[in-house]
Amino acid sequence: MALHSKFICQQCSFESPRWFGKCPECGSWNTAVETVISTADKNRKSSRTINSQSGQNSKPVKLAEVEKAKTKRIFTRISELDRVLGGGLVAGQVTLIAGEPGAGKSTLLLQVANELPEATGMKPILYVSGEESVGQIAIRASRLNIDSKSIQLLEETDVDNIVDLVSQTAGNQPYSAIVIDSIQTMQTTDLSGMAGSVGQVKECAYRLVKLAKSLGIPIFLIGHVTKEGTIAGPSVLMHIVDTVLWFEGDKTLSLRLLRAVKNRFGPTDEVGIFSMGELGLQVESHPERLFLSEAKMKVPGSVISVVVNGTRPILIEIQSLIVPTKLIIPRRVAQGIDSKKLELLLAVLSRRCGIPIYESDVYVTVMGGINIKNDPSVDLAICLALASAYFDKPIDRKTIVYGEVGLMGEIREVTLHEKRMKEAKRLGYDNFITSSKYDFLQKAVGGLKNT
Ligand code: TYD
Ligand code: MG
Repeated sequence: MALHSKFICQQCSFESPRWFGKCPECGSWNTAVETVISTADKNRKSSRTINSQSGQNSKPVKLAEVEKAKTKRIFTRISELDRVLGGGLVAGQVTLIAGEPGAGKSTLLLQVANELPEATGMKPILYVSGEESVGQIAIRASRLNIDSKSIQLLEETDVDNIVDLVSQTAGNQPYSAIVIDSIQTMQTTDLSGMAGSVGQVKECAYRLVKLAKSLGIPIFLIGHVTKEGTIAGPSVLMHIVDTVLWFEGDKTLSLRLLRAVKNRFGPTDEVGIFSMGELGLQVESHPERLFLSEAKMKVPGSVISVVVNGTRPILIEIQSLIVPTKLIIPRRVAQGIDSKKLELLLAVLSRRCGIPIYESDVYVTVMGGINIKNDPSVDLAICLALASAYFDKPIDRKTIVYGEVGLMGEIREVTLHEKRMKEAKRLGYDNFITSSKYDFLQKAVGGLKNT
């Protein structure tokens, strides 16, 4: 057992040098996290003297002076990543890229490693892998046509060796960035826990953050999450790192979304859109290609709408199907939207517009695998897709529908109305069904019935 660590119960803060599952104080199970109380190397600088943000000795500065200093951004040359980061990287920024295994995190960062040195005067990038051998990474690189001389690969899992290597390398900032693939494979010998345990993940991330801040080098940490969220990872690191980007996408589809969940240097509602193909991740500058079906024919049940992700309006297609049911409780299947929202809108359609939908199975899906969850701006599009399917009346494919629907059946205006309209017009859509055209859902459905 390491001499310099202790276990702390996360429920009641009871401390003990040993731990056997159950907390003797509050009785809760498996809540202890191993924590370093003093490091083995006495020569290392005490964390108390270092400002965690700037890596400098703490001293107060005048606010007016701070504001004048403009944050210099480093472009990664991957436009969708720069967009999500809020306009590029900041020196010393620690970014966690979290996602399920196989989402494409290693691929994305290998592509970043290929581009970033170009933007920083060919300063090399250090890619530390605790998961794959350098041979495996080289195979992936050749698949992606990457043969950059500026990528240095390192197979290492001891975080202190990485810190020492980087600090001892000649030059103030030896690398343009460091990639750690993944934080769950890193460990420090100051703790006895296995790599991937909460204590190890936290402590390793903390040491890497200190390194990033003291040398001003941006660091990317890759963190795995499982669907159940059981593995220690992103949730325990949230408050340690500057930026958390969630990399998500259905493995059976090519669409990959990069969402900013936390960002100390930019907005948190931006979304980067990529498609995974033969040559790795491609930046998707025309996302409507992914989200709209190719069909030119007018088919009942399909409606095109526009959602705003961060600052970007994206056109999406909602499809619905209504089938007579023999079940006592009819089926309601929602893909890409919240199933409770579907129930709610069905209730409004049934009560306010007199559509007897309780006698049918209802299926609603958002094309292309994008999840719009609870976005209220698609309410009207969902309702009209359902009404269109019910009355077997197609909606013109050059029509865009958006608006929030209330329980009274009223159609409310949504935010960024101008922006949505501008984007739709740019893409050749000239007919709009919104709150400016109809104030109540009954009228919109009536308009559809009479076409
Ligand atoms: P990877 O980056 O290894 O995922 P992670 O690091 O998040 O676990 O990507 C794995 C998936 O990406 C794998 O299913 C194969 C696929 N892939 C492609 O489709 N095209 C490519 O060019 C590459 C490199 C991977
Ligand atoms: Mg990987």
